[in-house]
Amino acid sequence: MTAPSVRIAPSLLSVDFGKLAEQLAMCEAGGADWLHVDVMDGVFVPNLTFGAKIIETCRKLTKLPLDVHLMVVEPEKYFDSFAKAGANVLTIHQEAAPHMHRQVSRIKELGLAAGVVINPATPVESLREVAADLDLVLIMSVNPGYGGQSFIPASVGKIARMRQLLDDTKSKAALEVDGGIARETIRDCWNAGADTFVAGNAIFSAKDPQAEISALRALCRVHA
Ligand code: DX5
Ligand code: ZN
Repeated sequence: MTAPSVRIAPSLLSVDFGKLAEQLAMCEAGGADWLHVDVMDGVFVPNLTFGAKIIETCRKLTKLPLDVHLMVVEPEKYFDSFAKAGANVLTIHQEAAPHMHRQVSRIKELGLAAGVVINPATPVESLREVAADLDLVLIMSVNPGYGGQSFIPASVGKIARMRQLLDDTKSKAALEVDGGIARETIRDCWNAGADTFVAGNAIFSAKDPQAEISALRALCRVHA
């Protein structure tokens, strides 16, 4: 996945749940590549969201790959039920994964793509030993827990360092960024080496969410 193709992943966190079917259809029609699903347990992060039941509902409503971001302690407890519910990518936090090698192997055994995510204060180097085994690395560009926060500018340098680490280790992992992605921030992240972009507020608060997906993608294709 090192080839520079752009993936836009609208975040379910910003969806109007009263219009879930309609909004997912809109994402698909607008050319979204993945649907990003934020699972929070109120322990790892100070917020609570959804679990297997909602993943199952999304699976029925869309053909988009479901990119599940587990902001939970002991994420392995959920692997089997989320796989059964129709998740395609399971991404666990480095900070909640003391046995990361085992956890990543288990995700792959279930036939899913395995990702690891690091918080803003967690160093890039912490993934060196597992990088070659990963399908996806996610850099948090906000502190996880809420949508609509401001992008942390230091994330751009961090993306570039992670890009280098992935190249050094010959990892084919996708490099995703999550938090505060909008027209003002996406291009710097792309130029730094990210290829997959989560966006919640930017897409769902736009007057025309479909046009916003295209606009975000177009900004990655123009090198400035
Ligand atoms: C935050 C979540 C994000 C969130 C991003 O903890 O992991 O995926 O939905 O939202 P925006 O794009 O609004 O910053
Ligand atoms: Zn997320």
